[in-house]
Amino acid sequence: MPAENVIITDQLQASLRALTDASTFSQIGVLVDENTKRACYPLLQPFLPAHSVCEIRSGEVHKNLTTCSQIWQWLTEKQFDRKGLLINLGGGVIGDMGGFCAATYKRGIRFVNLPTTLLAQVDASVGGKLGIDFEGFKNHIGLFQEPQQVIIYPAFLKTLPVRELRSGFAEVIKHSLIADADYWPNITSRALEQQDWLSHIRHSVRIKAWVVDQDFKESGLRKILNFGHTIGHAVESYYLQTAHPLLHGEAIAIGMICEAYLSAQYGNMPSSEVKQMEEFILSVFGHHHLEDHHLEVIAGMALQDKKNEGQTIRCTLLEKIGKARYDVAVTTGDIRNALQTYKKRLTL
Ligand SMILES: NC(=O)c1ccc[n+]([C@@H]2O[C@H](COP(=O)([O-])OP(=O)(O)OC[C@H]3O[C@@H](n4cnc5c(N)ncnc54)[C@H](O)[C@@H]3O)[C@@H](O)[C@H]2O)c1
Ligand SMILES: [Zn+2]
Repeated sequence: MPAENVIITDQLQASLRALTDASTFSQIGVLVDENTKRACYPLLQPFLPAHSVCEIRSGEVHKNLTTCSQIWQWLTEKQFDRKGLLINLGGGVIGDMGGFCAATYKRGIRFVNLPTTLLAQVDASVGGKLGIDFEGFKNHIGLFQEPQQVIIYPAFLKTLPVRELRSGFAEVIKHSLIADADYWPNITSRALEQQDWLSHIRHSVRIKAWVVDQDFKESGLRKILNFGHTIGHAVESYYLQTAHPLLHGEAIAIGMICEAYLSAQYGNMPSSEVKQMEEFILSVFGHHHLEDHHLEVIAGMALQDKKNEGQTIRCTLLEKIGKARYDVAVTTGDIRNALQTYKKRLTL
C-alpha cells in the first residue's frame, strides 16, 4: 500500500481534521467494541464532526457473519449512502470486519482504520486484507481492499493490556527476522517493558508497506510475511477450540520457533541464529506446554492453510536472520518433529 496512506502521529486532532477537510462525506460512522468505546473513543470524539457510533462485542469469536449483519443493518438504518465513511476504531478484529462490511455495503463505501492494538498498528491495519471467520475457518471469507487512510496514534496503546501488547510484539519480531537483520539487536537488547514501541511501529509499517506495495495480492513476495504462520495458525486454531485459547501473537511465537528449526533443516540457517531466536522468543513469551497427543492434530491442521497448493504445505522459512524464502515445501511429519523439538526444549 502506498506509504503516504499510513500516518503515524501524536496529533490525532490534526489528522482527523485533515481527513474530514480533504473529502466530503455524507455521513460518518465509528465502529467500536466495548473496550475501544471506553478507552479510545473519548480521545477521538471531540475532534470529529457529527457522526454516529456502532458498537459490537469484542473478540475473535464475534468476527463472523452475525456481527456483519448487525453492522450492515446499522448502516442501513442510519441511511448511509455511497458517500459515507466508516472509521474502524479498534484492533485487528474491528479493522478486518469493519473494512469487510464497508467494502461490501452498497458495493463499497470508504473506510479509515484507526488501529488501537499493537498488533493492528504494526500489521493488521496495513495491507488491505479484509475478512471474517466462517464455520471455524479463520479469515475464510474476505477480500483485498485498501482503506482510504490508516491513522496510527501510538498513545492508544497506553490502555492496552500487557498480554495484548506482547501478542503484537510477535509481529514486530517477525518483520525484523524476515527483512532486517540490522534492526534485530534493537529488539533483542531489551525486555518487553523497555521496548521502543514508536520505533517498532515505524519500522514494521515500513517493512509491511514495502512488501505489500510490490505484491498486493500475495502471488509471491508478500508470502514472506507468513513466516511463523504456517505452524502458528495451526497452533492458534487448535487452541481456539479449547478452554485456553492463545492470542494470535502467542501462537505465532511458537510458530516462529518451530519454523526456525525447519529453516535449519531445509536451508542454511546457522544453528547459532536458531538458538538466539529461540532463546529470545522464549524469554518474552515463555514456553507453552504441548501435550504429545496434540502434536499430530496440530500438524494435520497445517494442511488447511490458505497458502498451500493441494496437499503440499508451503512454508516461509529463513535463510538467516533478516532474509526469508517463501514456498518451501514441507511435510506434516516435519511439522510434527518441529513441534516435538519445541516441546522438549524446556527440558534441555
Ligand atoms: N488484515 C491483516 O492483514 C491481519 C494481520 C494480522 C492479524 N489480523 C487479524 O487481527 C485480529 C487480531 O487483532 P488484535 O490482536 O488487534 O485483536 P482484537 O481486535 O481482538 O483486540 C484485542 C483486545 O484488545 C481490546 N482493545 C483494543 N484496543 C484497545 C486499547 N487501546 N485499550 C484497551 N483495550 C483495547 C479489544 O477490545 C480486544 O478485547 C485477528 O482476527 C487476525 O486475524 C489481520
Ligand atoms: Zn500474524
